[in-house]
Formats: sequence, structure tokens, C-alpha cells
Amino acid sequence: MSISVGIDKIGFYTPGLYLDMAELATARGEDPNKYLIGIGQSQQAVIPPTQDVVTMAANAASQILTPEVKDDVAMVLFGTESGIDNSKATAVYLAHLLDLSSHTRAVELKQACYGATAGLQLAADYVRVHPAAKVLVIGADIARYGLRTAGEVTQGGGAVAMLVAANPQILALEPVSSYHTADVMDFWRPVYRTEALVDGKYSTNVYLDFFKTVWTDYQQQTQRTIADFDAFAFHLPFTKMGRKGLRQILPEAAADQQATLKAAFEASQEDNRHVGNLYTGSLYLSFLSLLRHGQLTAGNRIGFFSYGSGAEGEFFSGLLQPDFRQGFDDAALTQLLAQRQRVSVAEYEAIYRRQLSNDGRDVRLAVGDDDAPYYLAGRQNQQRQYRHR
Ligand code: CAA
Repeated sequence: MSISVGIDKIGFYTPGLYLDMAELATARGEDPNKYLIGIGQSQQAVIPPTQDVVTMAANAASQILTPEVKDDVAMVLFGTESGIDNSKATAVYLAHLLDLSSHTRAVELKQACYGATAGLQLAADYVRVHPAAKVLVIGADIARYGLRTAGEVTQGGGAVAMLVAANPQILALEPVSSYHTADVMDFWRPVYRTEALVDGKYSTNVYLDFFKTVWTDYQQQTQRTIADFDAFAFHLPFTKMGRKGLRQILPEAAADQQATLKAAFEASQEDNRHVGNLYTGSLYLSFLSLLRHGQLTAGNRIGFFSYGSGAEGEFFSGLLQPDFRQGFDDAALTQLLAQRQRVSVAEYEAIYRRQLSNDGRDVRLAVGDDDAPYYLAGRQNQQRQYRHR
């Protein structure tokens, strides 16, 4: 008999600052409803220079790791497209910061917003072969398009940490999934750039095309239809994108099921609406949001659409487990989001420009305003200085 493998625990971190999207719209000469309704974003995480993907991942992962669990972590798979080094993996810094055993494999995975999904599937396959092992999977990014660009309203950032294990508390992954790759120039970031290049409208069309392809293929492989699903979680670069994805397949469902799926979507976009895009973590923040705000019960089947520009798409599914509410700290996540401080557009612009420079000079950052457990104190001799309080 095959063992049940999937997501056992989830942690999430985003820094303590946010920008109001109605205020940004006004500053950019746009109707606030374009951002609030047309794009579907209310707030956007603002990432201070004292947080990067390594510290955000450490702040997310430390929520789900006890000393006993740390001993069982056989691999760290770090999905990101906001890497800090072209050679050394963020996962190695992370494993050290979290004080994991040196008997751990630690690597970084990159394919735009798809990296964490690659990590999740590789982790699940590993645990199917090594059922006593646990794998820490990270999806962490900082979405940057630039001040006054069309993509600015779709920025954000944060980290999701997932523990993949046998007999998981939250979600048992079903083994069949459908994936699709094509060489597409919809969004990319050459190594000499700190901001992404994007063909925005085109990228939204490729997203929907990929969803159609993998959803059709998944149904052919499994003989399942939309009637077999209780909810869908989408990669949410901005919440309207997932809404468009759902609308594409909703006519396949009966009227009462359409209402259920729409209500589940509202739950799945709630937290993303307040954080913005965290690229490869966005699908998993949306899943967490669905768990937190949705009307779910054990046994529900959830469909996942992962999309990474460039491009890679995957559709897979999982079954919700009886103790799923024990796998994340709902109250702590509510507090994390509620305690964030609002910054003005001028403050956001100043913080945006203060990101760590690419010139290699020594820097000592003002760390006093950052109360996260893990933070970046600066750079010395070309090395990032990570700290833990
Ligand atoms: N009230 C309500 N709605 C309004 C409005 C108003 N006053 N004014 C405009 N709108 C609506 C528009 O009708 C439009 O809705 P539809 O898409 O349903 O037609 C929506 O607001 C957006 O308007 P525009 O299309 O005019 O917006 P834009 O040209 O400024 O750009 C964007 C939108 C292309 C998404 C841009 O923000 C962008 O380039 N973002 C980054 C790229 C991105 O996120 N792509 C997603 C797919 S790629 C991916 O998923 C990977 C990833 O994470 C990057």
C-alpha cells in the first residue's frame, strides 16, 4: 500500500510594513478602484533592507520547527527567484541560521514563481522513498517591478515554509499531476537587473493558456472533473489573476457547486490581497488563506494551479486531512498581518531605493526598526551579515 505524503505544517512571514493600494493609486493618478477591484489588491508588503529571502524564510520556518523536527529534516529545498548569490544557495545560509543538522542536503531551486512547487513535488517523491524523513520546502521572494511601472501595483514579498512528511497533518498530495513547459518571454530578470522585465498583458494570457492545458491534461489522466473538487488554489500574482483562472473553468460546474467554488476563492485570496505578490510563495500563501478563511472539512479535494513565467505550469491536487487546523498557527498569522505598520507612498519609495546596493561595498544597516527574529545587519567583506535575536 502506498503511504500518504504531503504538507504537515506551514509557516508564513512577511515584514511589518505595508502600503495602502488606494493611496498608491491616487499618487500614480489612477482611479483607486482600478487597483482595489481591477487588479484586486488592497495592501502591499513593503520589504525593508534588513529583510531578504534568507531572513524571511528563517522567520517563516522557525514557526514550524521544534528541536525534534529539526533532527528529522533531511533536505532543505529553497524556491526563489530573488537569490542573493549566483553560486551559493540560500538554503545553505538558511540551514545554518536554523541550526539544522549538518547531515542535511540544502539546495536552491529556480523557475520563476514555480520554484516552490518543484520543491514540493521533489520533497514528496523523496519522502515516498524515505518515509521517516522530513523535507523543509521554502517559497520566498521579493516582487519588484520598479517605481511608477505598470507592475508596481503587483509588488509584495514574503516567505512560506512547508514541512513535507509522511502521514501529514494538513494535506495528502495525490500522486498524479500535470505539468507543462514552453520557452516563453513573458517575464524574466537577466543577472544584471534588480527589477524584472515583463510583458504584462501577454503574461496574463500565457498564465490562462497554461492553466487550460494542465487542467485538461489532469482531467484526462485522472478521469476526474470539476465535480470532484471542493476548492482551487491559484498562483496569485494579483488576486484578479486567479479570479480569471477560476472563471475559465466555472461553467463546467453545476450552479450550487459554482457558489461553493466562488466562496472558496474569496477565502483563498484574502491574505494575498493584503500582502501582494511573493512570486513562488504566492500559491502557498493562497492555500494558507483558504485554510484560514474557508469553510473546509476533512476529505475535501483541493486543486492547485502553479505558474512560473518563462514558463512552467502544473496542476495537482490533494486531500485535506482531519487535523489540518493543527498544522499552522492561525492566531499568530492574524497578529502578524494586523500588527504591520502603514507607510506613506513617500516612505515606501525611500525604502524601495534603500535596498542593498550591488556594488559590494561594506554596509551597516539600521536594524533598530526591525523586530523580526532573523534580520540582515549589513554586508562586510562581500558577505551578508545575518543575525538572530
Ligand atoms: N474600476 C475597476 N476596474 C478597473 C478600473 C476601475 N476604475 N480601471 C481599470 N480597471 C480594470 C481593467 O478593466 C482591467 O481588468 P481586466 O483585466 O479584467 O480587463 C484591470 O483593471 C487592469 O487594468 P489594465 O489591464 O489596464 O492594467 P495595466 O495595463 O495597468 O496592467 C498588469 C495590469 C498587466 C497585470 C500589470 O500590473 C503587470 O504587468 N503586472 C505584472 C505582471 C503579472 O503579474 N503578470 C501575471 C501573470 S505572470 C505570473 O503570474 C508570474 C508572476 O507572478 C509575475
